[in-house]
Amino acid sequence: MRRAVCPGSFDPVTLGHLDIVGRASQLFDEVVVAVGVNPSKSRLFSDEERIAMLERACADFDNVTVSSFSGLLTEFCRREGIIAIVKGLRAVSDFDYELQMAQMNASLAAEVETVFIPTAPEYSFLASSLVKEVAGLGGDVSALVPDFVLQALVARLTSGDAAADEPGAP
Ligand code: PNS
Repeated sequence: MRRAVCPGSFDPVTLGHLDIVGRASQLFDEVVVAVGVNPSKSRLFSDEERIAMLERACADFDNVTVSSFSGLLTEFCRREGIIAIVKGLRAVSDFDYELQMAQMNASLAAEVETVFIPTAPEYSFLASSLVKEVAGLGGDVSALVPDFVLQALVARLTSGDAAADEPGAP
């Protein structure tokens, strides 16, 4: 059983994330989409909300499950029997940081490989941070996120509330 992880903040999940998860699910027996929990970072959606959105978004993938982790990703991989970390690469600008993380993770756990999947061209500009900014300014992001995420975004951004468990979240 070859298990991989797609880690991220997923605040919120976008169609770009789901494209990578779907393609990773073709390459591995099992894919764990893992939400990185970091209490020092501000989020629009709480850990529970991000996990629930991912569970709904990934429901059609037979071999994909959703989990969360805090601390080192490599330790999560060891605990879960995960052999590969899958990351999407949008552009050269992603590469420097992702390579640095891949090499640091390799130094921490040489048995865990990092696999880069090139982002589909239609999602090459897509980032959760931009989706939040554009949606917050009234722009149309309906082509970039699942419908239920769009509804959650509009509800959250118009209410002005941040995630309950994230003090100071935008
Ligand atoms: O969606 P993001 O914000 O790019 O996700 C970043 C994430 C969660 C994948 C990254 O911050 C991470 O791997 N965090 C775990 C902490 C860790 O292992 N740090 C060392 C990596 S070199």
